[in-house]
Amino acid sequence: MMNIAVFASGRGSNFEAIAKSIKKGELQANLALLVCDNAKAGVLVKAKRAKIESLVIEREKFANKHDFERDIIKALKLRKIELIVLAGYMRILSSEFVQEYKNKIINIHPSLLPSFKGTQGIKDTFDYGSKIAGVTIHFIDEKLDHGPIIMQATIPIAEKDSLKTLEKKIHKLEHQIYPQAINLFVKHKLKTLGRKVRIY
Ligand code: GRF
Repeated sequence: MMNIAVFASGRGSNFEAIAKSIKKGELQANLALLVCDNAKAGVLVKAKRAKIESLVIEREKFANKHDFERDIIKALKLRKIELIVLAGYMRILSSEFVQEYKNKIINIHPSLLPSFKGTQGIKDTFDYGSKIAGVTIHFIDEKLDHGPIIMQATIPIAEKDSLKTLEKKIHKLEHQIYPQAINLFVKHKLKTLGRKVRIY
C-alpha cells in the first residue's frame, strides 16, 4: 500500500476524515505521517487518538525556509512517502519542494477554483452572493491555489444559509470527496497532461 503523509496546521477535520476512511477500508493507503507546523493544533490530538505518527516541524525553529523544508523532506524520505496530502496546511511550499514532489502533492480548497483563492474561500463565496459553492481538489504547482484540478464538487447556497451553515456543508463535502480523490491517486488512476487531469 502507498505511504501517504498529511500536512495540516489547524483543526484537522479532513485529516480525521481521511484516517476514518482508511480504517473503514474505503481508502486503501497507509497514512504513515502527519506533518504539522503548529504545536498547539487540534489535529495533533486527532492523530494521537488515531495512533498515527505526527511530527511537529515549526518554521521558527529553523534559520531559513530551505532548512525547514529539508527537515520535512528528510522525514518524508525516511518513511518512503509517495503522496503528500495538504489539509489546511497554512504554509506555501517553495518551488524547490514542489519540484521534489512534482505531481505528488495535492490540496483541498473550499471554493470552486479559480474563484475565491486564498485563505477565506468559503466566506468570500458567501459574501459575493454566489448561488453555488464548492470544493476543489488539485495538484500543487508553483502558484497559489492554481495547479491542475483533480476533482470538484458543488452545493447550492440557499437563501436561508448563513456563513455558518454554508461552512458546515462545505466541510461535509470535503470529508466525502477528499478520501475519494486520494484513492484515485494511490490506485494510479490519475494522469496529468498539462492542466488536464484524466481519471482512468
Ligand atoms: C478546509 O476547509 C480546507 O479546504 C482548507 O483548510 C480547511 C482545513 O480544515 N484548505 P480542517 O483542518 O481539515 O478541519
